[in-house]
Amino acid sequence: MADDRSGAPGIGIYIHWPFCLSKCPYCDFNSHVRHAAIDEARFARAFAAEIATTAARAPGRTVSTIFFGGGTPSLMQPTTIAAMLDAIAQHWSVAPDVEVTLEANPTSVEAARFRGYHTAGVNRVSLGVQALDDRALAELGRLHSAREALDAVGIARAVFERYSFDLICARPKQTPQDWARELKTALKEAGEHLSLYHLTIEPDTAFATLHAAGKLKTPDEDTARALYDTTQEVCAAHGLPAYEISNHARAGGECRHNLIYWRGREYAGVGPGAHGRLDIDGERHATATEKRPEAWLSRVENAGHGIVSDAALMREEVADEFLLMGLRLAEGIDIARYAALAGRPLDPGRIAALREHGLVETTADGHLRMTLSGFPVLDAVVADLAA
Ligand SMILES: C[S@@+](CC[C@H](N)C(=O)[O-])C[C@H]1O[C@@H](n2cnc3c(N)ncnc32)[C@H](O)[C@@H]1O
Ligand code: SF4
Repeated sequence: MADDRSGAPGIGIYIHWPFCLSKCPYCDFNSHVRHAAIDEARFARAFAAEIATTAARAPGRTVSTIFFGGGTPSLMQPTTIAAMLDAIAQHWSVAPDVEVTLEANPTSVEAARFRGYHTAGVNRVSLGVQALDDRALAELGRLHSAREALDAVGIARAVFERYSFDLICARPKQTPQDWARELKTALKEAGEHLSLYHLTIEPDTAFATLHAAGKLKTPDEDTARALYDTTQEVCAAHGLPAYEISNHARAGGECRHNLIYWRGREYAGVGPGAHGRLDIDGERHATATEKRPEAWLSRVENAGHGIVSDAALMREEVADEFLLMGLRLAEGIDIARYAALAGRPLDPGRIAALREHGLVETTADGHLRMTLSGFPVLDAVVADLAA
């Protein structure tokens, strides 16, 4: 996996569009439904202002990736996307091979805008297909059918240089056999990248309420493990091995923006509820903006930014985050970089014990990485190593 196609790592820019047409019952992303029209031009001006303020704090970077996430960024007009891309190019230099990803919901209305997004500068789209079964889609509260989603994938394939789509597995009553069938159908439609998430019951969601009331049952641990094993086998056999715990790609097809997070590189977060990690005067700053869209808008209009927290991280915090994010990757972490960040090496005794249990391995080039059987217990391994 190349570190970055343009040489120097470069900064990633995350732009959060916080609106959706409806709230999916499993989702705890910062997404809001508004019944009145959204003043998109006013929001676009605020995004441009926050981009300018962020660039003034982190000047001189080269932008290597831009990611429009949400919420549902495919509800934006292409002109709004173009305005945000113009603002970025006005304040930073942009790498000639910049990766510009847009998350899109796979409805026909949104797919109709794909050409406009491409003209605006988007070169990669990530579609939230979630399931290829209409009943499962209805249970997930989705507004599209499987046919509609596959049609959107077809349009994405025709319009963009690169595309990916997301599926959610470990859904109620799903068996490994059902999942293997669904995944094989998905792989026929896949390009270079697929994101495959296990359904998580997030606190304060409609699914959390149903789950607590015993009305929604997720697969037990053995079934979840069998679903995970099925994913690894079927995807690897189709040339899309996991490069991250939930993300699969052909070599070179990895999402370069998400690699910035997992490799502990620098990124700016713009828009309501966006998080950033900026390296300022030799310190890593964790930034977060106001989550409520209209409150964020007022802050930006008054102060030029919506940042509500900006903390210089202690070196242990930077190192722990590097460990937590990096071990999600199949390539693992550079052990020497961990030691430089933490000011102390990882405990060799703990590594040896985890290796004996077959959960991690060390490589000739100085990386520590999870094994396939270690990935399902990643959180416990990270907790052990960080202790
Ligand atoms: C920001 S979200 C959604 C993007 C887009 N609005 C959509 O719904 O298609 C990115 C992805 O996270 C995944 N996701 C969200 N909540 C999840 C949950 N509770 N469990 C598993 N996956 C989840 C979904 O696959 C989703 O496509
Ligand atoms: S899953 Fe996507 S469409 Fe559904 S509420 Fe979350 S961000 Fe919005």
